[in-house]
This record gives sequence, structure tokens and C-alpha cells, in this order.
Amino acid sequence: MLGYRYPGDSCPLRIGSHAIIRAGTVIYADTTIGHRFQCGHHALIRAEVTIGDRCVVHHKCTLEGRIGVGDGVKIMAHVYIPSGTLIGSMVFIGPGTTFLNDKYPMRQAAPVQGPRIEDHVTIGGGATICPGVTVGRNVFIGAGSLVNKDVPPDTLAYGVPARHYPLPDSLSRGNLPELLLPQTDLWGSQSDDSWNK
Ligand SMILES: CC(C)(COP(=O)(O)OP(=O)(O)OC[C@H]1O[C@@H](n2cnc3c(N)ncnc32)[C@H](O)[C@@H]1OP(=O)(O)O)[C@@H](O)C(=O)NCCC(=O)NCCS
Repeated sequence: MLGYRYPGDSCPLRIGSHAIIRAGTVIYADTTIGHRFQCGHHALIRAEVTIGDRCVVHHKCTLEGRIGVGDGVKIMAHVYIPSGTLIGSMVFIGPGTTFLNDKYPMRQAAPVQGPRIEDHVTIGGGATICPGVTVGRNVFIGAGSLVNKDVPPDTLAYGVPARHYPLPDSLSRGNLPELLLPQTDLWGSQSDDSWNK
């Protein structure tokens, strides 16, 4: 279902050219998505979400609304992103990652504050990113990590809670455009070299 209306909505859903939207997905009104978007089955993207060009949201992801996502971002299956989360460009988010926005839920009425993920970050599968945390540019977060404090740029972070280590040379050059930007899928027949033009 595209452009799902809710009380108080003010503008339609906007999606750029060459989108691939798979069955079972629901995207609300008041959301704007760029060109060459692709999503899996049963993705949920609620209102007031802005997503840039060449982004992928795999199956069964939930984007709760009031979220910003840059260009060239790949969000793998079963990722949960609450309101107030900001994600930069050229970011990879591994499957089953959970972002959080409320440090003391139901015990304090403080405004929610989602994490901020800067450009070229990679987040391994099953990580948990705590409320209000900033993950700096080019950071690599290991699988299953609990990230409960800010991570400085160019850092390798892993563990529960995540500890910070120097980023090895082999991971230091940021996320590769040829891996993030083509609009292809394991089960699709399409090829896409337009990302390089
Ligand atoms: C963090 C990561 C990059 C480290 O890789 P690496 O530099 O090759 O490190 P190693 O595998 O040699 O492990 C080094 C040490 O860190 C530990 N370690 C590695 N990854 C860890 C993780 N995610 N959490 C906790 N400890 C970890 C290892 O057990 C090892 O400890 P030891 O020296 O006591 O034996 C990698 O393990 C990882 O988590 N990658 C993300 C994978 C992923 O989620 N992909 C998603 C798409 S499928």
C-alpha cells in the first residue's frame, strides 16, 4: 500500500523514478523518497520520512516515521528504526539491527532522541544502537554490539558494551560505491551500471 493516509496528513507520498516496491510493503503519506529506491517484501515506512537516492530497505524493516536517511544507504532485513533517527549517506546497516530513541521509557516524559549515524558507517548484524548516540563518519561496528556511547570517526567498535579500537587499514577507505549503489538484487535479473555515470 503506497501513500497510506492518516489523520492530519498534509501531502502525498513522493517517490522518485525507477523504484522497485515489493508486495506487502506499506509506505505512508507525508514521506519523500529519492530515485532508484528498492525495498523488499513487507517493509513498513511511516510518515515524515525522507530517504535520498539509491537506497535499499530490505524485507520486514520498520521505519517508524520522522526519520532522515541520506543517499546510497542499504538497510538489511529486520532492522528497526524509531522516530528521531538520522542516517547519513553511504551507510550499511546489517540485518536485525535495532536503533532506540528513549533511554527511560515510560518512567520519564523526556523527548525521544534517536541515534545519529554519519556518512560511510557500517553497522554489523544484530547491533543495538542506544538513544541519542552519535556514530562518527567511517565507523565500523561489529556484529551484535551494544553501542551505548558516542563513537568517534574512523573507529572500529565492537562488543557488549562496544569498546573502541583503531580502524584497521583494510577498513579505512569507507564503503565502496560499487557495492552500495547499483540497484540490483540477488533474486532479480536486473543489472545496473547507471550508478557510475
Ligand atoms: C568486528 C569485526 C569487523 C572484526 O573482524 P576482524 O578484525 O577480522 O577480527 P577477528 O575476527 O580477528 O577478531 C578479533 C577479536 O575480536 C573478537 N570479535 C570479533 N568480532 C567481534 C564482535 N562482533 N563482537 C565481539 N567480539 C568480536 C574476536 O573474538 C577476537 O577476539 P580474540 O582475539 O580474543 O580471539 C567482525 O568480527 C564483524 O563483526 N563484522 C561484521 C559482520 C556483519 O555483521 N556483517 C553483516 C552483513 S552479513
